[in-house]
Formats: sequence, C-alpha cells, structure tokens
Amino acid sequence: MVNAERLATAEDMRSYGARLAARLRPGDLVVLSGPLGAGKTTLVQGIAEGLKVRGPITSPTFVIARVHPSLCQGPPLVHVDAYRLGGDLEVDDLDLDASLEDSVTVVEWGEGLVEGLSDDRLEIHIDRETGDEARTVTLRGVGSRWADTPSDRPEE
Ligand SMILES: Nc1ncnc2c1ncn2[C@@H]1O[C@H](COP(=O)(O)OP(=O)(O)OP(=O)(O)O)[C@@H](O)[C@H]1O
Ligand SMILES: [Mg+2]
Repeated sequence: MVNAERLATAEDMRSYGARLAARLRPGDLVVLSGPLGAGKTTLVQGIAEGLKVRGPITSPTFVIARVHPSLCQGPPLVHVDAYRLGGDLEVDDLDLDASLEDSVTVVEWGEGLVEGLSDDRLEIHIDRETGDEARTVTLRGVGSRWADTPSDRPEE
C-alpha cells in the first residue's frame, strides 16, 4: 500500500479502509486526523467491513468509544471519537489500554491525546480538496510495528 492515495468517492474511501484492514492486527493503534467531514468515519466503516466486525459504524453523539465484536473469530474493532474529549484525563477514563492488546483501536481526533497508549501507531491523515469530493489519505507509521510503512516517501 502506498503512502499517499487519492480517493475520489466515499465508496473508494470505504474500499481503501477494507484493504487497509488486511494489514491490521490485534494491538494496533490507528490515529485518524483531518478536518470536520474529511471522511474519518467513512474510512472506519471500510476498516470495519474489512475486519468483518459487527456494525454499524456511526458518528457517536454521546458514546465516545464503541466496541464492535468480530463476526469471524478476529479481533474486535474499538472505534473512538475523541472530538468531545477535553484532554488526557478523559482519555484515561476510557480505559483503552485495557482493550488495546486484543483489539484494533481506531481513534478519530486522537492526535495529541492517545499517543501515550502505545509506542507504535499508524497515523492516517485525510485531506479534502476544494470543490471536489476527492480526499487524499496519507499514512505515517510510528514505531517498529510500522517500520515497513513508507512514511517519508510521497510515492512508492
Ligand atoms: N472521497 C470521499 N471520501 C470520504 N468521504 C467522502 C468522499 N466524498 C464524499 N464523502 C462524504 O463526506 C462525508 C464524510 O463524513 P465523515 O463522517 O466520514 O467525516 P469525518 O471526518 O468522520 O467527520 P467528523 O469530523 O465530523 O468526525 C460523508 O458524507 C461522505 O459520504
Ligand atoms: Mg467522524
């Protein structure tokens, strides 16, 4: 999978997420960033599809973390939306470290909040272009787990 990819539609974003899911293992932490409406939740929907976990993946109004159990003996998906979280203390309250090891944990708006959970993480940034539905997804792997993720090369 290349480091930066342009995804023309929401459906493309979901299939990108499904492909990405094939690379995800229990213990993985994925941190999603990008502006409001960038497509973070849409990407998580694709990841959920690829992992074959129980849906639906929604944008939580009150619930901040939701566990989606596997439908096929795989790891559960823990989907977190940290948009409404104030800081470290509230992140601690979610007890994500308790589920981290056995789950795939994906955090929207997690930048600057959840890095302490793991030495390894996959950072995914989504950008939108003006006047277009297209989004650009950029991956950056941090730590030995993601050593083979091209993080400093624009193309591969
Ligand atoms: N190429 C694309 N990739 C992803 N979403 C797209 C694309 N084109 C259009 N969309 C639409 O943009 C919207 C993205 O909303 P989504 O909730 O996924 O964003 P978000 O980043 O999670 O927002 P929030 O910051 O509120 O959590 C959806 O309505 C989706 O259908
Ligand atoms: Mg969202």
